[in-house]
Amino acid sequence: MSIQSENVQKLVKRRSEARLGGGQKRIEAQHAKGKKTARERLELLLDPGSFEEYDMFVQHRCTNFGMEKSHPDGDGVVTGCGTIDGRLVYVFAQDFTVSGGSLSKTMSEKICKVQEMALRNGAPCIGLNDSGGARIQEGIDALAGYGEIFERNILSSGVVPQISCIMGPCAGGAVYSPALTDFTLMVKNTSYMFLTGPAVVKSVTGEEVSQEDLGGASVHASKSGVAHFAAASEEEAIATIKELLSYLPQNNRECAPFRETADPVGRVEDSLNSIIPDNPNKAYDMYAVIGAIVDDGKFFEVHKDFAKNIIVGFARMGGQSVGVVANQPSVLAGVLDIGASRKAARFVRFCDAFNIPLVTLVDVPGFLPGTQQEYGAIITNGAKLLYAYGEATVPKVTVTLRKGYGGAHIVMSCKQLRGDINYAWPSAQIAVMGADGAVNVLHAKEMKEDPEHAQAIFEEKKKEYEELFSNPYQAAQKGYIDDIIEPRNTRFRVIRALAQLERKHQEIPAKKHDNLPL
Ligand code: HXC
Repeated sequence: MSIQSENVQKLVKRRSEARLGGGQKRIEAQHAKGKKTARERLELLLDPGSFEEYDMFVQHRCTNFGMEKSHPDGDGVVTGCGTIDGRLVYVFAQDFTVSGGSLSKTMSEKICKVQEMALRNGAPCIGLNDSGGARIQEGIDALAGYGEIFERNILSSGVVPQISCIMGPCAGGAVYSPALTDFTLMVKNTSYMFLTGPAVVKSVTGEEVSQEDLGGASVHASKSGVAHFAAASEEEAIATIKELLSYLPQNNRECAPFRETADPVGRVEDSLNSIIPDNPNKAYDMYAVIGAIVDDGKFFEVHKDFAKNIIVGFARMGGQSVGVVANQPSVLAGVLDIGASRKAARFVRFCDAFNIPLVTLVDVPGFLPGTQQEYGAIITNGAKLLYAYGEATVPKVTVTLRKGYGGAHIVMSCKQLRGDINYAWPSAQIAVMGADGAVNVLHAKEMKEDPEHAQAIFEEKKKEYEELFSNPYQAAQKGYIDDIIEPRNTRFRVIRALAQLERKHQEIPAKKHDNLPL
């Protein structure tokens, strides 16, 4: 055999050994837990044959605790680039079969390399995480590695989309990089996120808790809001990443891809003319409104199980990707609380960073009152949403369907926060508060002094207030909304507004960066 053939054979052998990561036994253990390997996951994620791998032969440099005896090629993470639906993405997939996917300094160098390439070449960066955190044997070197990754997460934020998928137990440093990215997905029953696992929790606080209850997908998707999506399987998680990407641009200099639709722009939806109940305290389902106005009724929801009193997600209108934010009257009457404010603020800021126009559907009775909310800083958290809308320079089209009361009306993309086009349905009530509350404040003394006629006074004053304020005409007379539209024409009117705003250009004053209320 010639030297050249031998060289080629050696390469082929090294490659096939590297592809085994921590070895066949550990691959089988991974499968036995219902988990795929890093390479199997990348195969599902990327277009067939598109994966270009980097740093396959990188090895760790640790000599502590017997680590010098084993040097698996690739060292615990598979990195590179490929395409999804023909569009370039950079990827890293942690390999749990090598030291539990724990982060060594060389692993961090591999991850940083693809993060930098994603930033330089203007493409999304996707991390498939399955890691026990900092590699204990490497000490401070591993911690430094995390610092390097975090810094690149921060520099990439708002420049290229960053997506994290949690596909195993992720502890310590392994959860902070996902927290810095734009979207976090988790897989139910096989993935966990926590700073410290149940054993440490027990030793420090005495609390006994399972991995699932401490940091399972359902906990983070519904209680903490750390995860935006909880998928039933790894396949579903990967399909969700692909769908999410279809609504996003490659970077902050581009627009999201246009997708042709057979759904007519001028489609009139008669059902919307009767969707608002006569009783203002009765709920209806905002999903029905969203489904009726977007292309093909297709809505890709983000944060579905968290703070359900507000709905956020992506859709297309006339083929163009839009971010939809909508109060949900059927959950807590659509009130804004801490969770809803945080959820919507983050979504609005993402859309603004990536040139995705905002369509806001308003039916909000106000902010949730009470000590729980005040102690949890509803003032600061509500201000996040206010700030997010006020700073956003993407096209902002708003429709007030019913209630738009008080501060919540202002927060939800009103005209004064540089809302571009603000419509109202004839059922809109844009006022400081609802009629009952207003009468109780304004006429309390009168009713107290005449208890016999208190009810009659209440009814009379309520009628007066309703005639004056429980409609959209006061706001329309003053130009605070641009038009009162027939509900059934909403799709057409919003799409026409978006077309008008296609080349919108708006500046914010020069600054180093803002100081939004965190
Ligand atoms: C080195 C590790 C490791 C780690 C796991 N392994 N975590 N090696 N450093 N951090 C190794 C195990 O020794 C084992 O090796 C293999 O990976 C698989 O781990 P198992 O424990 O057998 O798997 P499992 O039972 O599924 O449990 C997974 C786990 C657990 C929940 C992740 O391993 C665990 O609790 N690890 C420690 C997590 C942790 O406390 N990390 C925090 C690090 S501090 P063998 O050879 O036996 O197969 C940190 C701070 C950074 O990250 C801060 C930045 C801000």
